[in-house]
Amino acid sequence: MTKYFLVFLSSILLASEPITPIPKTVYVDMKKAKLGQELFFDTILSRDDSTACFSCHNVYEGGADSRKVSLGFHGKKGNIQSPTVLNARYNFRQFWNGRAANLLEQADGPLNNPAEHNMNKKDIEKKLNNSPYKKKFKKVYGTSKVKYKDVLDSIVAFEKALITPNAKFDKYLRGEATLSKNERQGYILFKQYGCMSCHNGINLGGNSYQKMGTFLEYKNDKEYPDRNKVSHHKHDINVYKVPTLRNISKTAPYFHDGSAKTLRESIDTMAKHNLGIYLTQEELQSIETFLYTLDGDTPSILETDVPQ
Ligand code: HEC
Ligand code: HEC
Repeated sequence: MTKYFLVFLSSILLASEPITPIPKTVYVDMKKAKLGQELFFDTILSRDDSTACFSCHNVYEGGADSRKVSLGFHGKKGNIQSPTVLNARYNFRQFWNGRAANLLEQADGPLNNPAEHNMNKKDIEKKLNNSPYKKKFKKVYGTSKVKYKDVLDSIVAFEKALITPNAKFDKYLRGEATLSKNERQGYILFKQYGCMSCHNGINLGGNSYQKMGTFLEYKNDKEYPDRNKVSHHKHDINVYKVPTLRNISKTAPYFHDGSAKTLRESIDTMAKHNLGIYLTQEELQSIETFLYTLDGDTPSILETDVPQ
């Protein structure tokens, strides 16, 4: 009886929180995902065998790129900071400006981007059909030749497995852990000051477009692919998809332009530009401590070898 009551009570408490935990496990087709994992790490998908998805998305360390802007084909510089691929399945759209509806549409982008993999459908099929992948695709997809759509499908299956459950904060939401005084204080400030109005839901972000510089104007460099490049509305200048704050301690530098080197600097900038407030050192430190509780487990798929 008490047990049922506690479950009931915690579901009410959870329902009132604007953040939901990442599920401990999700269903993915493991055969496809393991094939996708191999491709994600393989430079075979780039024209000059120099670049893999992994080059710009370090899935062991936050899923993003520690460089200010990523380098791709022939060391060409991209024009925006690489966001994390971890928990990307929970974003409502993909890319900083949401130009891809989902992971499948997204994966087509870097493969064809001249500054990234610099490939195309035909060349990828040709390269893979002349490699040991031909057999591997046959095993998983039952096809006599590798098809581009299956290449994308397997990469997406892998990305769907990239979840980071069991963050301390998720455990707290499930009633399995308690927050320290400082972490709790940071969470209260995060809610009270209104960070939560943009960073909420399962990913603490990834579910709306917002302006960078709602209160205090933020420099606008026309080079960056903001929402305006998709919608062509004036009010979408410097508008981006709100990034997730999960594993945020591991994805420096921050912002679309990589301008904030540390997490503390990014919180300070956010408060000034998007809330119009100046936080004290103590408040900054508390919010930072709270954000550290959003670090989750390394995705379990990375802990098993890919079949040869
Ligand atoms: C040269 C570096 C580079 C390579 C290689 C690369 N990416 Fe990215 N990735 C980026 C950058 C930069 C962005 C953001 C671009 C934008 O939003 O305009 C991005 C965005 C993404 C996103 C969207 C995340 C979000 O929150 O919107 C996903 C998912 C992703 N990449 C997966 C992949 C996959 C899969 C591959 C391999 C097929 C790949 N990337 C290869 C740099 C790279
Ligand atoms: C009005 C909406 C809004 C509010 C309020 C807001 N943010 Fe943000 N946040 C954003 C947007 C949009 C970005 C992306 C900005 C960019 O890259 O230029 C962002 C980016 C960030 C980043 C960097 C993420 C990354 O991967 O680069 C952090 C950290 C962050 N916010 C924390 C906070 C904190 C802490 C607060 C409260 C003090 C806050 N935000 C308030 C919308 C908001």
